[in-house]
Amino acid sequence: MQAHTSPAQAAIEIEALREQLHHHAHRYYVLDEPQIPDAEYDKLFQALQALEATYPELLTVDSPTQRVGAKPLASATTVRHAAPMLSIRTETDTEATGAQAFDARIRRELSLVETDPPVEYVAELKFDGLAMSLRFESGVLVQAATRGDGEAGEVVTQNIRTMGQIPLRLKTGADVLPVPPVLEVRGEVYMRRDHFEALNERQRQKIAAGAKGERTFVNPRNAAAGAVRQLDPAIAAQRPLSFFAYGLGEITPADQGGPDFQTHYELLQTLKAWGFPVAVQTQCVQGASELIAFHQAIAITRDSLPFDIDGVVYKVNSLALQRQLGFVSREPRWAVAHKYPAQEQLTTVLAIDIQVGRTGKLTPVAKLAPVFVGGVTVTNATLHNEDEARRKDVRVGDTVIVRRAGDVIPEVVGVLLEKRTDDLLQAPQFTMPRICPVCNSVAVREEGEADYRCTGGLFCGAQRKQAILHFAQRRAVEVEGLGDKLVEQLVDADIIKTVPDLYRLGLLALANLDRMAEKSAQNLLEALQKSKQTTLPRFLFGLGIRHVGEATAKALARHFGKLDSIMDASMAHLLEVADVGPIVALSLRTFFDQAHNREVVEQLRQPEPDGCGVTWEEGEPALRVPKPLTGKTFVLTGTFPTLSRDQAKDLLEAAGAKVAGSVSKKTDFVVAGAEVGSKLEKAQTLGVAVLDEVGMLAMLAAPVSATEQVTL
Ligand code: IVH
Repeated sequence: MQAHTSPAQAAIEIEALREQLHHHAHRYYVLDEPQIPDAEYDKLFQALQALEATYPELLTVDSPTQRVGAKPLASATTVRHAAPMLSIRTETDTEATGAQAFDARIRRELSLVETDPPVEYVAELKFDGLAMSLRFESGVLVQAATRGDGEAGEVVTQNIRTMGQIPLRLKTGADVLPVPPVLEVRGEVYMRRDHFEALNERQRQKIAAGAKGERTFVNPRNAAAGAVRQLDPAIAAQRPLSFFAYGLGEITPADQGGPDFQTHYELLQTLKAWGFPVAVQTQCVQGASELIAFHQAIAITRDSLPFDIDGVVYKVNSLALQRQLGFVSREPRWAVAHKYPAQEQLTTVLAIDIQVGRTGKLTPVAKLAPVFVGGVTVTNATLHNEDEARRKDVRVGDTVIVRRAGDVIPEVVGVLLEKRTDDLLQAPQFTMPRICPVCNSVAVREEGEADYRCTGGLFCGAQRKQAILHFAQRRAVEVEGLGDKLVEQLVDADIIKTVPDLYRLGLLALANLDRMAEKSAQNLLEALQKSKQTTLPRFLFGLGIRHVGEATAKALARHFGKLDSIMDASMAHLLEVADVGPIVALSLRTFFDQAHNREVVEQLRQPEPDGCGVTWEEGEPALRVPKPLTGKTFVLTGTFPTLSRDQAKDLLEAAGAKVAGSVSKKTDFVVAGAEVGSKLEKAQTLGVAVLDEVGMLAMLAAPVSATEQVTL
């Protein structure tokens, strides 16, 4: 930066820097397409800061330097909105009736007849954040206010200035409409889901480190509202907020030099050009049928959006028609919100039960007063494990927020602490039982694991039931008609204990069970008979070995061909299977090393009458591809003539080598391309062998001492 001889010269420089910073902030925060590296931005920023420090008289509120660092507010002040912030009528009907009713109402109000063309609408997302009114005078942000009661809201300008997505000054240019003297932009401040998760994680760490007065947030809306109303802008600045513009408040009228918008869509496009984020999903559509299509399309993508929405909004596009339609009480006739089923609801915790899974895993489950959420009635929500349950500090009697999004299993998001009564405050925190609630065996939590497991194995009724159901499921050996109720009865009545017992069931025992007519008993026996003819992958998957899912079972069957080969394979041999890592290999070994598991397998595959007669076709083992570079560690550096870094890495890893990021004594080879740096030097100091790309390819093609590498 050159020295400035006069304030006039400094002013020009300051203006130029602000222009650039506004431009790059918009690229970065709104368009998500930065043109310059962060460090470059920082340099410009610091240059501006320095100039403003030298010439404080040139400081303005819309300077990019004013986004952060403002002083905390003593308390909030309120302001009357120049134009009231209205709410919209909400339809919660099904997609068809909601949109049709709205369209029919609009057509009636406008006295349209059937032969008239469809009404044009703008369909938008209904963002689940908080409404904000941003006032710009001569293009400069002068005030931000919350909705409040619609008439007057809280002034939160300082905090809003910290948000990168909100322009401090409207963009101008040849292709942009001139900035009106007064412009109030209305929109939603929200927090993205990933930002929310990251914020909560940071909050948890602060709490764990003993910070006082910190808390986590139950959902993005709650976190956004907290951040907006923060009295300290420095804290607000650390809460990553985003913004979508969707409408206007006060604006200089067209006859006084304001813009003359004809449609809502045109208005949104202009807001975008002035520098505001407008959701890409926003669409111009014709008539009710396209509104319905929009509602359905958004319903499908709802869960994969990076932010929460609670519905869609339909607005009449023509502003002339909007004026004609007017308002009823506090709601415009020209807009309607069409909600989706809420994904979060409040309910109370009736009990915390412990469920025992197939592998003995104990899961705390909150039993809830039934609540309709995400389109279904929920009565259970998982608390995952002891740490999670304690982190959320859920107690019996608590009022909790339950969330069910898409097909995800319902979850307790958090406790409404303000609803906690005094005696609940005295209640003990949740602790995991140290014995299995089903079989009273000891439950243990292994080092580094989050879960407690019952050690009872097949002695445990819960695990037995689950093991039988797992074996009989459609994707495993498939015993049609053997559901959880029936297994429950069979195990509880001690008729069966293990999977092989299934095949010893007789008509008599079955027909005597509750609700089991002779015909159904007959059907079950036939289904059992049919299940005896299976395939190796199904059988293997059906055994319920920990970490062995369908894909792994298939890979094992393909690789080994025969069950005996799998049962007797060494760790090293198992590790050769694509898909099998050390955890899976160890789990397989542990399973087949236990005599009682082998016994179950023998009983199942022995021919009748001694065994159950389960059969499958065995195959030949797949050709074993030797991995010649197993045990060797490579480091890649520089650019290679033909291969990309990733391709080279893939090739080496496929040959069994490990590719590390830095050179150490453990490195066997460094592969060096052009423009190498310190890694090569380090290799030379440590005396590590250095290859070029050709050398590496030669090694892959004609591996040295390949046999020596493969130890079985
Ligand atoms: S238009 C006159 N559009 O929903 C109409 N509102 O009751 C003014 N909201 O709290 C609102 N997304 O913050 C409009 N695309 C959208 C919206 C939206 C969310 C919120 C708004 C307000 C409520 C309206």
